[in-house]
Amino acid sequence: MADFFTFEQLHDFPALTPPARLAVIGDPIGHSKSPQMHNPALQACGIDAQYVRIQVPIGRVKEAFSLFVKQGFLGVNITIPHKFEALDAVDVVDPLARQLGAVNTLAIRDGKMFGYNTDGPGFLRSVKEAFGAEIRDLRVLVIGAGGGAGRAVAVQSVIAGCRDLVLANRTEAKLEPLVEELRKVASAQTRLQTCSLEHAGLMQHLPEVDLIVNATSVGMKSGDAALLPGGALESRHLVYDMVYRASGPTELIQQATVAGAKHADGMCLLLHQGAISFEHWFDRPAPLEAMRAGLLKA
Ligand SMILES: NC(=O)c1ccc[n+]([C@@H]2O[C@H](COP(=O)([O-])OP(=O)(O)OC[C@H]3O[C@@H](n4cnc5c(N)ncnc54)[C@H](OP(=O)(O)O)[C@@H]3O)[C@@H](O)[C@H]2O)c1
Repeated sequence: MADFFTFEQLHDFPALTPPARLAVIGDPIGHSKSPQMHNPALQACGIDAQYVRIQVPIGRVKEAFSLFVKQGFLGVNITIPHKFEALDAVDVVDPLARQLGAVNTLAIRDGKMFGYNTDGPGFLRSVKEAFGAEIRDLRVLVIGAGGGAGRAVAVQSVIAGCRDLVLANRTEAKLEPLVEELRKVASAQTRLQTCSLEHAGLMQHLPEVDLIVNATSVGMKSGDAALLPGGALESRHLVYDMVYRASGPTELIQQATVAGAKHADGMCLLLHQGAISFEHWFDRPAPLEAMRAGLLKA
């Protein structure tokens, strides 16, 4: 079978065994590990359905969603660059997805399209699993808060009532509008601050934060410059790198290991956001260990 199907094939989708009922869309999409996580979950639950990748070009998301309904699909995951376009392409937007500003999960029920965001709640669950901690008890630094993933983490952290939130981004001009937006949902207890991505700026805040989240794309390629200077991390820090890299741990995860700090990488988020999508589609708990084993094998 091909690595992915095309948008054109959605008009007359090939008959597969088991039948294709779930998909992930993006552009590009061939690299997505979601099928290796969701197909074992479907098998573990005895559901006669298959999860496939479909490459959908920018500007065709709404049309693709109508075709998914026509072809009898149950649900779809949406990844880069379609999460914002998807927000306007569904019939009903879940209130949290509206707050987070993006839809990454479509559930089709009785021909109606419901849009959810599972990245935010997946982040909370993964922090709990990896660190045994609740966001509301933590002081959080989000590096790359100006990007889509960083924004979702920042908004979700504020909604969950984190104690302090420090936002850093390469393009600093993106931070003030985000802070204004966060103030609308933040409780009085949450202190919001911004800082520069320069090492000196970040170093100033490291003593005051517990959880450090890398939401930039730095670390995707081996040899990327380190976000933090060597020796900056302490063993008490919780380090969450949203990047996952098949070629081995990122520089940030390596620094956390040297410091003796607890750490988690992007696979943790992929797993938990996927599990929550599964719960939206089937209204039952996701078989997390089957999904984790599938991802580890991939
Ligand atoms: N594990 C998962 O399930 C999951 C889910 C979503 C995202 N992610 C990961 O999160 C990362 C960001 O994804 P995204 O969707 O938010 O992408 P995005 O919207 O394109 O944002 C990219 C972010 O990275 C920053 N950045 C890019 N190159 C940089 C550099 N050389 N130095 C410093 N900052 C840099 C950007 O800063 P500017 O604003 O200055 O451009 C921006 O903050 C990616 O690595 C992605 O793989 C993982």
